[in-house]
Amino acid sequence: MISYANQNNIIMQKLIVISILLGLVFIFSSADKKQNIGKTIYEDSLADDSLKYMNEVMNSIKGKEKMRADSVFKNLKVIRGQSSISAEHLLLMMNWGWSKELGISCSHCHVIGKWESDSLETKNIARGMWEMRVQINKEILPKITGRDYTGNPKVTCITCHRGKPVPSGN
Ligand code: HEC
Ligand code: HEC
Repeated sequence: MISYANQNNIIMQKLIVISILLGLVFIFSSADKKQNIGKTIYEDSLADDSLKYMNEVMNSIKGKEKMRADSVFKNLKVIRGQSSISAEHLLLMMNWGWSKELGISCSHCHVIGKWESDSLETKNIARGMWEMRVQINKEILPKITGRDYTGNPKVTCITCHRGKPVPSGN
């Protein structure tokens, strides 16, 4: 009888240990989920902001979407002349290209609503980056490989940035 009771005790102890372990596993896995949910909301709100601002500017230039960007906007220093694109294309690029590829909202480079202002350093850096990209694809890559880079593959912002404002060095 005594040994039977002891055996029962041991089984009970094992059950308790197992339920504590299961409890811990549950707590850790739900903490992990909470972190992931937080991250998704953060990324989504960045994307929502950019899309909202892009649509706002798009509405403000109604009828001029297909005109050259440098004839519609006030302060273009690099996306002009030979390398100008349509006003609509510029806005699509601001959102789906630059903001997405760097994982940021328009406000990383712009004072919202004062789009022509150059008060943020990042806006000027982006101008230099655009010119660097053009130089890599038009001059440096063709010199290295002897190929033509008017089609894909070529270097774009995402080649280096991969969704981050500052690319990691390793
Ligand atoms: C990585 C930096 C960066 C991000 C992010 C960015 N922009 Fe820009 N934006 C620029 C730069 C640089 C120029 C000027 C280009 C030039 O000088 O040719 C510009 C120009 C503009 C202009 C023309 C303003 C004018 O009148 O001269 C508008 C409008 C604009 N951006 C809207 C947006 C919107 C809307 C977003 C977000 C969806 C956005 N930008 C995101 C860097 C950025
Ligand atoms: C060949 C790689 C490469 C390409 C292509 C590239 N970048 Fe960069 N970018 C960098 C590096 C490296 C840095 C960090 C420089 C530093 O911190 O001094 C940087 C920094 C920046 C910054 C400053 C970010 C901050 O918060 O300080 C902006 C804005 C930027 N890049 C925009 C762009 C845009 C827009 C494009 C595409 C037109 C682009 N970059 C293409 C390598 C690249």
